[in-house]
Amino acid sequence: MALVQIYFLFFGTLGLSIVLYRLSSAHPLSSVPGPYINKISKFYGSWVSASGKRHILQTALHEQYGSIVRTGPNEVSVLDVAGAKEALRLPRSRFYTQRSVHGLVNLAGSAHTPRRRRWERGMNAESLAEYDESLMVTTQKLLGYLNKSSGEAVDLCEWLNSFIYDFSVDIAFGEPMETLKEDKSRTAQFFHSIENGFKNMSVLGQTPWLFAFANKFAPRKHPMFGSELAQRRIARGTTKRDLFYHLIDEEVPEAKPPMREVIADCGLLVSVSLTTPSVLSCLFYSMLAQKQHYEAVKAEVDARDETLTAVVAANYPFTVACINEALRLYPPTPTSGQHEVPKGSGGQTICGQFLPEGTQVQVPLYAMHRRPEYFSPRPNDFVPERWLDGSLDLTKDAFMPFSYGPANCVGRNLAWREMLVVTVALMREFEMELPKGFDLDAWKDSFQDFYIATRPPLPVILRPRA
Ligand code: HEM
Repeated sequence: MALVQIYFLFFGTLGLSIVLYRLSSAHPLSSVPGPYINKISKFYGSWVSASGKRHILQTALHEQYGSIVRTGPNEVSVLDVAGAKEALRLPRSRFYTQRSVHGLVNLAGSAHTPRRRRWERGMNAESLAEYDESLMVTTQKLLGYLNKSSGEAVDLCEWLNSFIYDFSVDIAFGEPMETLKEDKSRTAQFFHSIENGFKNMSVLGQTPWLFAFANKFAPRKHPMFGSELAQRRIARGTTKRDLFYHLIDEEVPEAKPPMREVIADCGLLVSVSLTTPSVLSCLFYSMLAQKQHYEAVKAEVDARDETLTAVVAANYPFTVACINEALRLYPPTPTSGQHEVPKGSGGQTICGQFLPEGTQVQVPLYAMHRRPEYFSPRPNDFVPERWLDGSLDLTKDAFMPFSYGPANCVGRNLAWREMLVVTVALMREFEMELPKGFDLDAWKDSFQDFYIATRPPLPVILRPRA
């Protein structure tokens, strides 16, 4: 027999045996329901991720199979509040950790804890108060530039991206940025390149071994994101307490972490901050699509006249309810990555199913937030009142846009501050409307899941208020 035939026979038999084992009752996850194609291989999962429709598919799978579904040979997806909390307490899997650059989000277990501590210092109430001045200055710049485009349709997504980017670079590296004044087609390219990084993570992360392989051969064309900013920051020294200051442990000189880690984290702050404009775009889309919500927020904002610095959530309950509803319907990490039952743990039971060591567990937030058992009636509709009057079913524990557990969003308070301040500022300054003929359904349907959510341009006509 020719060598080539032996080769095919060997690998064919091996492949077939693996497939049969994965489909058989001998597999430890055989009692978890799910489609055959998912049980056989993760390649289908990568293909779904590449389509940007992973969130839709996960929702449909749970509707068909229930609270726990087998989504890979060695992977399950969980859609039950108690199970989700257990899953999100597990350490992160190779989906996150198989990277060449390790920001906080790429760490698991004991590597994560000390780094998280430094981040928490940079995100505590005292630090946020120090970042507020920059937030106010950047907000005023945003309003100034938008005023110049009065009466025209501007892409609100792109302006909000620039706004958050400029603010985030300032608080991460202590360097004011001016992408707000740059040509929006140029900045759009730049933000798409950041989105592409997440897209690669979302697709290749489904098959981490392939990711590791691709990573080995990928050309290293670009220096690490943030390297130049970091070099300038080091040359300048500390002039104010930015995140860089907290991450290099300036107050504990003997405990300095490697500079590579600090740069990765500051770069991470800038890139994950783009989740905030994602929520804000969905918020303005939803309010402008159903103008009664827009009018109610406007009335609430107009009823108060404190300075922007003094704006706090407690004084804007309806606005907060609208932001919550945008976070619920359009979570910026719609399906996230997998966590893992650790080796040496003996396994874990979630949703009544025993999951052996090494099982990958995922919690799809998009599907969770639209589950009729938790949010009803009208789980797929933008209904801010569900957060206010108690007349609708609301399971607050099932609302996890910032995730849950030891690796939940460390920037959530900052994100809330940004969202509230810029919403109040824009509502005070402008009358807004969507252009005539704008296709509401097409926009909603173009919401895509590439680990972080992406959405198309949102043209909004702004006119200064009298
Ligand atoms: C509305 C806006 C935001 C939402 C909904 C959000 C949501 C999330 C979620 C779901 C995670 C967990 C991701 C995962 O495990 O795959 C996460 C992690 C994280 N977020 Fe946010 N985020 C937002 C804004 C921000 C901002 C403004 C920052 C900037 C400081 C930030 C910094 C981080 C970091 C550093 C992590 C990793 C935390 C860890 O590993 O311990 N996020 N975020």
